[in-house]
Amino acid sequence: MRVERLELVDFRNYRHATLDLAPGVSVLVGPNAQGKTNLLEALHYLAIGGSHRVATDAPLVRTGAETAVLRTTARFAGGRRVTVELEVRPAGRNRAKVNGQLQSRTRDALGIVRSVLFAPEDLQLVRGDPGDRRRFLDDLLLQRRPAYGAARQEYERILRQRNALLRGLRAGRQGTEMLPTWTDALVRAGATLLAARIAAVHALAGPAAAAYRDLVATAPEQDIGRDVTMEYELSTGRSVTADPHAGVPAPAELAEELRAGVADVAVAERDRAMTLAGPHRDELFLGVGDLPAKGFASHGEQWSLALALRLASREVLHEVGEEPVVLLDDVFAELDAGRRRRLADRCTRFEQVVVTAAVDDDVPLEGPRSFVHAGTLVAAWPSADDGGSADERGTG
Ligand SMILES: Nc1ncnc2c1ncn2[C@@H]1O[C@H](COP(=O)(O)OP(=O)(O)OP(=O)(O)O)[C@@H](O)[C@H]1O
Ligand SMILES: [Mg+2]
Repeated sequence: MRVERLELVDFRNYRHATLDLAPGVSVLVGPNAQGKTNLLEALHYLAIGGSHRVATDAPLVRTGAETAVLRTTARFAGGRRVTVELEVRPAGRNRAKVNGQLQSRTRDALGIVRSVLFAPEDLQLVRGDPGDRRRFLDDLLLQRRPAYGAARQEYERILRQRNALLRGLRAGRQGTEMLPTWTDALVRAGATLLAARIAAVHALAGPAAAAYRDLVATAPEQDIGRDVTMEYELSTGRSVTADPHAGVPAPAELAEELRAGVADVAVAERDRAMTLAGPHRDELFLGVGDLPAKGFASHGEQWSLALALRLASREVLHEVGEEPVVLLDDVFAELDAGRRRRLADRCTRFEQVVVTAAVDDDVPLEGPRSFVHAGTLVAAWPSADDGGSADERGTG
């Protein structure tokens, strides 16, 4: 699929803006703090219903406004067009429209637009806590199969209830009679998440290794032992390697493993009054060569690895439907010349990619440029001698 138009009202620093996008490469250029990332954030929000930068919606609404409107028209295989509109209302429930029809649930408007975003924040995928990597897998699964969202919510609900019970037990307010019931529920819901996450790791591993190799490749002899490895580490102590031939363990088998894991930590759980085994405690191990990426890889390696994970996400999403639009925020400036060139090569194979850069020369890609200036989009950069009378494509 590709995005033909993005319209914003009172989103971040945009009062009103319209961005028309061509197929293939588009580049958004402008100095720092003008609104480039805000545009990618808006597109990605239309796809997943959340921001990659903030956990709440309030910062997305322009200061002084009460709600923001994001609207996009996307074109799908066969020429079908769909318009998705989201009204972000921090004080109430968001409203969503598809082709002008108000949806009873916002989530029915999500997933129509498909996007993969790489942003500087993604360094956290490599450097951050296990929770950052679990969220990466969960968000990918959610985009790939919306039913995963319900499974995750169910697990989180059970986890909260079980933790509340453990606190009640420790405080002497509750007895142990209900604990086996909540453990059963945890194990069952947990096994569903585990099976899905392990399948995601299997699906990602090949494309991630290939994308990384592609990005960093110099001479083959220099690449020996520099491959990306991924392993899903269960809270029970077992690691599942990302060998797709190994197959995903059956949910029943995972449930039994989880049950044994919970039993192993029973004493500590009662002591700390929290659930200590389950998918909320798992880790996605990332390695480059023989070393863990976290703590060992160089800045450039971490950047390339995070990027490779996003590029692999694109492959994994594309396997099950429309090709997602690729959004690359500030990616080229951090790469050396060779990596820039190889990333650019890859970008030319995408149906649509939107790239931001503070410095145009950093982006070795042909394609239409839009210039971003203080929440305004202009098709040509105002030159010093024309008094800034640029061809306005949006109004600020
Ligand atoms: N809710 C809001 N209301 C008004 N302005 C906002 C709001 N949220 C963010 N901004 C402003 O938007 C501006 C542009 O942000 P954005 O992150 O898009 O910049 P950028 O062009 O990507 O810059 P950089 O090159 O530094 O990454 C910032 O100056 C910020 O203060
Ligand atoms: Mg930015």
